[in-house]
Amino acid sequence: MSKISAAITAVGAYVPDYVLTNQILETMVDTNDEWITSRTGIKERRILKEEGKGTSFLAINAANDLIQKRGIDPKDIELVIVATATPDMKAASTAAYTATQIGAINAFSFDLEAACSSFLFGMSTAAKYIESGRYKNVLLIGADKNSSMINYEDRATCIIFGDGAGAVLFEPNEEGLGLQDEYLRSDGSGREFLQATYGGSSYPSTSQAIDEGKHYVFQDGKTVFKNAVFNMADVAVKILERNNLSNDDISWLAAHQANKRIIDATANRIDLDPNKVMMNIQKYGNTTSATLPLLLHDYESQLKKGDKIVFAAFGGGFTWGSIYLKWAYSA
Ligand code: UT7
Repeated sequence: MSKISAAITAVGAYVPDYVLTNQILETMVDTNDEWITSRTGIKERRILKEEGKGTSFLAINAANDLIQKRGIDPKDIELVIVATATPDMKAASTAAYTATQIGAINAFSFDLEAACSSFLFGMSTAAKYIESGRYKNVLLIGADKNSSMINYEDRATCIIFGDGAGAVLFEPNEEGLGLQDEYLRSDGSGREFLQATYGGSSYPSTSQAIDEGKHYVFQDGKTVFKNAVFNMADVAVKILERNNLSNDDISWLAAHQANKRIIDATANRIDLDPNKVMMNIQKYGNTTSATLPLLLHDYESQLKKGDKIVFAAFGGGFTWGSIYLKWAYSA
């Protein structure tokens, strides 16, 4: 019997309707379209405005998009993983609620949190369940409502982040397609440079902390930028070397969309043709766990069976890594 590999066999996505443009941000903080575009590549982001709707709303819509497109019976889904840095609430699993709402009543489910690397680490996790031979349908959703932890008076963060969700289905493949290799890393000494300090177990929310805005995301942009450029390029090089791949062999780079300059630096380091670099940061900004599946969704019509895709991500923690995957179907 041939070895089972874990292939992505369907993609779905959802972004909220409200478009927060650079022009609107100009009216909110001291910034301008030229600065944001040249420093980040972002033109607009989507924001979930409706009160009481959290990350699960985004996740459910992305999952339903996938279910409809693929024509899969949700009762056949055995595991639902929601990769997210912004769960609906503490203690109650966002994935459990999402699974029930989409009708995946036979699945077990859990959340997976690794900041902007959540989806990448989720790909590794989902693949292991498939490769074990025990599971046949694993739904991985990357979803974040970043607007829930952004201070819209802080120009260092509010211009970057957006809300959104994407979903992929992993199934067994016996043609050798799907996830081929991974190189995943973390380094907790970086956590002071990107965090929402209050609201977790170290520093529970207090009225004083909230008054001082300490529950919002803070980042030392320059330090995060330097680490992201170095580490994302480094893991991309490593995964290429380990798999004897040249830049010509690679069909696509799917890199976490945090800043166009970070993505360009990674592509330059492996000397990749810019036409092979997936890019949609201009439309959505940094959607944390949703960037990679939103890329797959937007580029799905161009992907061909056998395409060699290198994924790379970097995020808070710090967490980062790279995955090499062979695409399993032509649109
Ligand atoms: O998802 C993973 C986690 N996040 C990231 O990977 C993000 C990594 N960091 C970045 O993308 C960039 O550091 C930022 C986009 C956040 C900032 O870009 P930068 O080129 O590092 O700018 P900077 O913070 O060094 O600021 C340069 C100048 C400063 O002015 P002075 O001191 O030179 O006069 C800032 O005050 O730009 C000013 N500035 C702004 N100006 C207009 C900072 N933010 C803004 C803004 N609009 N929004």
